[in-house]
Amino acid sequence: MNHMRKKALAIGIVSTALLSGCGQQAETPAAVNTAITPQKMADALHAVMEADRAVYTKLVINRLVKEEKVIKASEHWQDDKALPLPAQMFRFGAERVAESNSDFSYSLISSWPINKQNEPKTEAEASGLKFIEENPGQNFYKEESLGGKNYYTAIYPDVAVAPACVECHNDHKDTPKSDFKIGDTMGGVVIRIPL
Ligand code: HEC
Repeated sequence: MNHMRKKALAIGIVSTALLSGCGQQAETPAAVNTAITPQKMADALHAVMEADRAVYTKLVINRLVKEEKVIKASEHWQDDKALPLPAQMFRFGAERVAESNSDFSYSLISSWPINKQNEPKTEAEASGLKFIEENPGQNFYKEESLGGKNYYTAIYPDVAVAPACVECHNDHKDTPKSDFKIGDTMGGVVIRIPL
């Protein structure tokens, strides 16, 4: 058996163990160790969201709007024939997930929101946002009970990764804060997984 086949087989065993929903069929210690905790799941989902958000901002918005100056980005992107904002792209994705009937949800919040709808709404969101603002580089995890359902709620710093983030927010007519700098935590990404 070549190396690739062996690897494929190992992955097969692990997925069977995970799909079975209990550890009893998982005979190898390696399979037991791969159990996906809510935190690992939230971290993985966030890694994908953060990558998409940074790539869109750097390769599309920052390049075409700021460097090449060929098109604008605007919240009225349809009327203005402009690019949707990174926050809008993020929300359109979240809305599509919500339509899929999943109990899993995600959103973007901030203590200095341009859009007042993006203020923290639950106690966990408020304390999580405060925590990530005061502890740069760290995430916040908490179990929450909302509407009689339990959730694993994870909050990650949303960092100014490109000049466009900072300039657009600092210059926006509705912003409550005009001194963001590159590397600042501008808000938080909330990920909520049903338990
Ligand atoms: C061209 C302008 C523009 C750029 C570029 C931009 N934003 Fe925003 N951002 C906005 C606007 C406008 C909103 C509110 C949009 C909404 O909710 O519909 C927003 C929303 C947000 C929010 C939610 C809180 C709020 O202010 O309403 C966060 C956090 C945020 N942006 C961070 C970032 C980060 C980090 C980047 C870079 C990766 C970035 N933004 C790039 C304009 C911009």
